[in-house]
Amino acid sequence: MLIVPGHALILLIGPPGSGKSTFAARHFGPTEILSSDAFRAMVADDEDDQRATPAAFDLPHRAAGHRLTRARLTVIDATNLRPADRRALLGLARAWNRPAVALIFAVPEAVAQERNRGRPERMVDAAVVARGASLARAIGDRPAPLLDEGFAAVHVLRDPVAIDRLRIARVGRATRAIRSPSRATRTAGSPARTS
Ligand code: CTP
Ligand code: MG
Repeated sequence: MLIVPGHALILLIGPPGSGKSTFAARHFGPTEILSSDAFRAMVADDEDDQRATPAAFDLPHRAAGHRLTRARLTVIDATNLRPADRRALLGLARAWNRPAVALIFAVPEAVAQERNRGRPERMVDAAVVARGASLARAIGDRPAPLLDEGFAAVHVLRDPVAIDRLRIARVGRATRAIRSPSRATRTAGSPARTS
């Protein structure tokens, strides 16, 4: 069981193919997830149009700012592997006094590579996956610098089977999220509260 504050800013950190978007869709409502790919598609009608990258970074930041103002739980679904990817988001969390939580997807590189190969419609270069997996592993092996960056909590997820079984509980300012119909039928009532 992984416990997160209900008004947290959650950064998923991991290489392409590590399962971030799959995990996000399983545990969070669609309006809670800000995905750089979704914003790229929103402005370019194409998740892979790299010319839309500035928008893919700018728009999630702006949306996160608006959500954090309202104390809405917010999940940033991007690789977030470099400190520069995280800095402005952590600044937002600090500005609104919201706890920032890091979820590191340090799955074995072979798993990320295999999953990446399994989605030919948007396969990322294998070297990019390798580099990302190595960065995620380094962060997972030595997570303390993330606390210095401003994260209130850092969770390192390594085992794909355990990740698939993981449950998340929200504490404190848990709020009702808009859920897709399929989730609404599975999750009766508001998100779990443990406090
Ligand atoms: N996948 C899977 N089992 C999981 C997690 C992911 O089979 N437990 C599959 C997904 O269905 C997808 C691929 O692996 O086809 C990559 O997963 P995804 O969640 O899209 O990975 P991301 O980390 O979001 O990759 P990216 O950074 O490229 O968006
Ligand atoms: Mg993804």
